[in-house]
Amino acid sequence: MHAVGIVAAAGSGLRLGADRPKALVPLAGRPLVCWAVDTLRDAGVGDVVVTVPAAELGAFATVLPMDVRLVVGGATRTASVRAALTAAGDRPDAVLVHDAARPLTPPDVVGRVLAALAAGARAVVPVLPVVDTTVTVDDEGHLTGTLARETLRRVQTPQGFSRAALADAYALLPADAELTDDAAVVRTAGIAVATVAGDERAAKVTVPHDLAVAELQVAR
Ligand code: C5P
Repeated sequence: MHAVGIVAAAGSGLRLGADRPKALVPLAGRPLVCWAVDTLRDAGVGDVVVTVPAAELGAFATVLPMDVRLVVGGATRTASVRAALTAAGDRPDAVLVHDAARPLTPPDVVGRVLAALAAGARAVVPVLPVVDTTVTVDDEGHLTGTLARETLRRVQTPQGFSRAALADAYALLPADAELTDDAAVVRTAGIAVATVAGDERAAKVTVPHDLAVAELQVAR
């Protein structure tokens, strides 16, 4: 099975409050995007496409290995992944879509996703249980209900797909659609999504606290 990795790295990282795109923010001295590419490569996914902000092509080229392909991303994550998928071509059997914002994802997670694809899944996502009581609220912030947490999961990346299934789903998706992950894209096309165990270390770096926690993890 030939798998290509897509690393979504074209976001601005406004919530991190950094002076550069989030994927270029250093963790232990290395940009987040380099860690994310390493995770895929350490798990045997050598062919990697990275989506980057148009104005930062040069900066990404400077920090990433020469054989990583760079693609200009779009205004939304959905548009960025769509562009990378086109660049990946139709040769790969499988596509793994990973967030640059999850720098410490252990390669084992990639291995579990690849194994599920090899066993026949057309779409698979790593998930973790929800441990807090989780509620819904109204516009004023008043609690309106409590969700059954046994049925809830937190979804991580890399998310794995049969390339043809993901390409077909993107082809059906309206051009301006904006979804937060690729499992949601294939679900709009009626494709079943399997799950494998995620890992707390694959947490997403979104706000400054997340980066501080990641720094502590690598310092240990
Ligand atoms: O915004 P969020 O943290 O959910 O973004 C998840 C990932 O998608 C990040 O790694 C970010 O760089 C990427 N992204 C992208 N293109 C955009 C927006 C986000 O590749 N337009």
